[in-house]
Amino acid sequence: MQQKIDEILNYVKGKMAEVKTSADCQAVRVEVLGKSGKLTELFKLMKDVPAEQKGAVGQLLNGAKQAAESIIAEKETSLAAAELQQKLMSEKIDVTLDLNAEEIGALHPVTLDFMRMCDILTGMGFSQIDGPEIELDKYNFELVNVPKDHPSRDMQDSLYITNDILLRTQTSNTQPRAMEKIKPPFKVFSFGRVFRKDDLDATHTPAFHQLEGIYIDKKVSLATLKHDLSLILKKYLGDATKIKFRASYFPFTEPSVEVDAECNVCKGKGCAACNGNGQYEILGAGMIHPHVLELNGIDPNEFSGYAFGFGFDRFPKIRYKIPNAKVMFSNDVRFIKQFK
Ligand code: PHE
Repeated sequence: MQQKIDEILNYVKGKMAEVKTSADCQAVRVEVLGKSGKLTELFKLMKDVPAEQKGAVGQLLNGAKQAAESIIAEKETSLAAAELQQKLMSEKIDVTLDLNAEEIGALHPVTLDFMRMCDILTGMGFSQIDGPEIELDKYNFELVNVPKDHPSRDMQDSLYITNDILLRTQTSNTQPRAMEKIKPPFKVFSFGRVFRKDDLDATHTPAFHQLEGIYIDKKVSLATLKHDLSLILKKYLGDATKIKFRASYFPFTEPSVEVDAECNVCKGKGCAACNGNGQYEILGAGMIHPHVLELNGIDPNEFSGYAFGFGFDRFPKIRYKIPNAKVMFSNDVRFIKQFK
């Protein structure tokens, strides 16, 4: 018995020289003192020990048990202390660290630019209105003088949801919506997403932003339109920017114009941003067609008005030198973060 006890205690001492963690100590404890541990097994032999020796053997075993436990506990305590120290070091909290590390979001470049435009327009007496992105054909086309089967529907490849409902192709849907709600004279603008059946590439996105301006009053003329748009564009693109009005066609305006602006990256020389043209087309506009006024319950003999529509993604793309239109709609925070 004594020999077996010695073997076990030597085993425990040997193990304690090897172990590296307090969990290893616990494993050895289970191996030796657990339910079917080496030493526990010896206790089970007690039943075969003659009665007169039971006391002595019992003492021997209990002594061995205490010895094993104290060898293990000693090692375990020192390892646990070292482990605690290490844990405290690794979880050390730097109380001087600025806890205001919470991420603050950034505004999308289109939003940033729209906010600038918003300031300019509200400063000129326009107020903002809103129109739905999912729209009735009626507001997107029919009430702006584009009846069914009208060839100009081909100018805009539309995404229909049902026969009568589509994703608006233009913010011009806010023209009839404004005329339905507000009595002239009024001066409003509307900003938002529009959708066309376009494949995604560096210059096209199936969704893009437009900004629509509408002014209806007595005696609004093409001169008013030219004056107001020149002012808006100079404020927005810079006083020195050259702009050009040229005749165009839209079904809901007569006469219609398109406006080109000198490229503000190359100053007219031609560069990648303007496809080498030195200028780029920035908006469509015109005097609201008398028939459109009539269709929307406004007497064209009493009132006249102008409307203009910007494609709004190009400005921020040029201002912030964004090489690819795709990222503008990517929802990638790494992109947006740059505009803080
Ligand atoms: N809605 C036209 C387009 O999407 C732009 C426009 C708006 C033209 C208002 C004239 C007046 O191309």
